[in-house]
Amino acid sequence: MNTEEPEIRKGLNGVVVDTTKVSKVNPETNSLLYRGYPVQELAEKCSFEEVAYLLWHGELPTDEQNEEFCKAERSQRALEPNVKKLIDLLPTSSHPMDVCRTAASAMGASHPKAEDSSREANLAKSISLFAAFPAVVAYDQRRRRGQDVVEPREDLDYSANFLYMTFGEEQPPAVVDAFKVSMVLYAEHSFNASTFTGRVITSTLADLHSAVTGAIGALKGPLHGGANEAVMDTFEEIGIRKEESKEDAAARAKSWMEDALAQKKKVMGFGHRVYKHGDSRVPTMKAALDAMVKHYERDEILGLYDGLQAAMQEAKDIQPNLDYPTGPAFHLMGFDTPTFTPLFVASRITGWTAHIMEQAEDNALIRPLSAYSGPDERHVGK
Ligand code: CMC
Repeated sequence: MNTEEPEIRKGLNGVVVDTTKVSKVNPETNSLLYRGYPVQELAEKCSFEEVAYLLWHGELPTDEQNEEFCKAERSQRALEPNVKKLIDLLPTSSHPMDVCRTAASAMGASHPKAEDSSREANLAKSISLFAAFPAVVAYDQRRRRGQDVVEPREDLDYSANFLYMTFGEEQPPAVVDAFKVSMVLYAEHSFNASTFTGRVITSTLADLHSAVTGAIGALKGPLHGGANEAVMDTFEEIGIRKEESKEDAAARAKSWMEDALAQKKKVMGFGHRVYKHGDSRVPTMKAALDAMVKHYERDEILGLYDGLQAAMQEAKDIQPNLDYPTGPAFHLMGFDTPTFTPLFVASRITGWTAHIMEQAEDNALIRPLSAYSGPDERHVGK
């Protein structure tokens, strides 16, 4: 009998389960590369469509490839009537992530190549999910506000059209750019919980939509994607006072954080399983948040941001993660807080599907072992 205790890494912490060519997270150098390109450079120089193409194909598109790709994306943006009907059946009190999960599942069930998991079919499914998801997220926020669906505009790029479909009017370039930056930064992050979920589902040879649907479920939790909403809940709990000075807002935020930490609370938007010296995406998203604060003249938001961050730094030396600047940036753009994680979904569909295709192309069923810790063998006494 083997008496040696197996080594258990709770939460798979530190366990390397496979290789990937999609992205590289290096916490030591605080860098994140998508297919070799620093994410900061992609956020500054590329459209989100180019980044999606890069994640799926491994290379940035040529002008011709980009044109063809954008044409395909723009032609598949409308909300499918069946998906709209299904969304309308869900109560407006349901969480928008539940709406996303249902929509992704429905899109799979009605896909003409539902059971085809060839590279070609998976790529086509990825493009259609990428193209159509803004319509789902935008419509769901609108119906909660008692507003009707807005049809997509083929003359706008992905980010501008996403905002247009949500708010019913074109947004200024500064807002479109900050939104695009958030989409690029959220697109991919190696074997995080939702991506790993998608890879596990793919490893059983289930279809791409099943894997994306499962990934959406994993992303919902506040320890993962749900943190961007939770950040805004914190801001709301502290109280957003539009006319307040940045300094006063910072002081109130600081004392809120001191109380929270004294009560041993986990404050969402801080800390990361991989980055222990700061999240590489934060400086780029913080610059986008600064641009939004300037655009909307809302200095008090920055006061709350700075106050919380300073108090966390002082007390625990824990750094903000991407969800920390993204939450208030989405708020300033006009999104309702429960829509924040669905925005993450719309972006991360690109990374998830890149991983799903990678997993499918070199598959091994993901099936780890467990060490049993229940009662010894016993028998039913009758
Ligand atoms: N607030 C207060 N204390 C914290 C926090 C936080 N946000 N994060 C970590 N700590 C403390 C934690 O209490 C523990 O302290 P101690 O050793 O005294 O018990 C120590 O830091 C280590 O924390 P951990 O939870 O064991 O570390 P982990 O690597 O398992 O957790 C994490 C990473 C992201 C789950 C955690 O930092 C957390 O819960 N953060 C808040 C949720 C959040 O913002 N999630 C978004 C993650 S980034 C976006 C994404 O990829 O989805």
